[in-house]
Amino acid sequence: MLHTVAPDLDSLISADVLALGFTKSGDNPVEFIGNSRLIAALEKYFEISLIDEVTFFQPSGKAGELFEIPVLHDGAQVDRLYLVGAGDGSLPALRTAGAALGKKVRGKAIELISLLAESRAEIRAHGVSILLGAYSWNLKTGKPTELATIAIATKDSASVTEAGVIARALYTARDLIHTPSNIKNPLWMAEEAKKIADEKGLAISVLSGKELAPFGGLRAVGNSSPKPGPRFIELTYIPKGKARSAAALPHVVIVGKGITFDTGGVSLKRPYEFMTAMKSDMAGAAAALATISALPDLQPQVKVTVLMMCAENALSGTAQRPSDVITQYGGTTVEIINTDAEGRLVLADGLAYAVANLDPDYLFDIATLTGSATLGLGRQYAALYSRDNKLAQELVANGESSGERVWQMPLIDDYADSLESDVADLNHAADKGNYSAGSVTAALYLEHFVGDARWVHLDIAGTGRSETDSGENAKGGTGFGVRFFIDWILSLS
Ligand code: BES
Ligand code: MN
Ligand code: ZN
Repeated sequence: MLHTVAPDLDSLISADVLALGFTKSGDNPVEFIGNSRLIAALEKYFEISLIDEVTFFQPSGKAGELFEIPVLHDGAQVDRLYLVGAGDGSLPALRTAGAALGKKVRGKAIELISLLAESRAEIRAHGVSILLGAYSWNLKTGKPTELATIAIATKDSASVTEAGVIARALYTARDLIHTPSNIKNPLWMAEEAKKIADEKGLAISVLSGKELAPFGGLRAVGNSSPKPGPRFIELTYIPKGKARSAAALPHVVIVGKGITFDTGGVSLKRPYEFMTAMKSDMAGAAAALATISALPDLQPQVKVTVLMMCAENALSGTAQRPSDVITQYGGTTVEIINTDAEGRLVLADGLAYAVANLDPDYLFDIATLTGSATLGLGRQYAALYSRDNKLAQELVANGESSGERVWQMPLIDDYADSLESDVADLNHAADKGNYSAGSVTAALYLEHFVGDARWVHLDIAGTGRSETDSGENAKGGTGFGVRFFIDWILSLS
């Protein structure tokens, strides 16, 4: 996935392209970052002045600007240098630079070595971003995603391996999200999860059909689709050698929304153009699965359980109707108002199951839950809800450092009465009161199912999918949540 190359001249000149990063702040002169000894050796070898080369292009200093220059030397494979703006040299700037480099080599069978990253954090940020920029979905081309060979020049191969594992997990999430919904029904999701579990040595169990009797939300949504129906998929990671003592480890549970397509159901989604993006409505489950897929290679001293709540929200004769009353896992009865608010129904079963059976220390859910979440925050920040403000602030910081940013939103108790019902314990779509706070009331709904658990809800409706090919993102699924969770889980142990 991501390779390490020794930081010496002989190793560098056998690649096709070398990437060198420069900074330029204000009127100050251009400076190159990274291993200065190595950069000097390259200048001598190719008989060029890198500062002169960059200055010729009159760079702006913005992270990600990229200049390509030819170089020539007998016996060297390298024939081009990419001189890339590294902004202020910070991690976000190294990510932007990485994404620009990745995009430049996307789909090309060439070997690129980057000299931009030195520390572990830099290697992780920059290395992962090169691979994200290089990512492409391969169903259309039929070619493998990874045509380019990408390497970092460093002695720290452990950090490069770690970055490669994280990037691989992001690719897994993106591949799942990009898969068309006629292929990725809930059964297919279970099969993909099994493949990953077998390959990585994770425990897995899948419930379907009659076994789903207690999961009233998952059934109400998923039975709208002709067979194969909904699936409840549970995966567990326990570090090597800790099977007997796992109870002593912190236990993180992640519940993911896995709606393989969201038509809205009987309350059909309008305008219809909004519907095409709904093949991404399983991005939460994809991020959760991809996260746990990386853990056996990283071995954090944490127990992690992932619950993938997989169903299709279809329009059919067996679809639920507005005015139905269903029973969520654990017995809470719910009046169905708008069948397009299906995500919270499947998540509530997962959260209640986790509280009843898993004794989590941290209970997360991640979901493309509400269009409203994108209204305030746009597409760069996910909405985070938690009663634990200290944890929330740690997670906001984790978002910044991981490159997947979150913003804490308030659980506003004044809006709780919007969930009242005359015929059941709750109504699910917050149709009372007209509070115009769809993302908040969805979170308040979920909170009814988390008991005393330390709970965090992530609404990734905005961040889970990109409508443009820009920066780290190709058009389509982003894999948002994977880096956020992996970095945080690593920080726990
Ligand atoms: N999957 C959608 C939310 C969504 C919208 C995700 C846009 C990504 C982009 C969800 O199931 C939904 O339809 N939510 C409704 C809830 C409403 C009916 C209470 C919404 O947000 O409009
Ligand atoms: Mn919906
Ligand atoms: Zn949905």
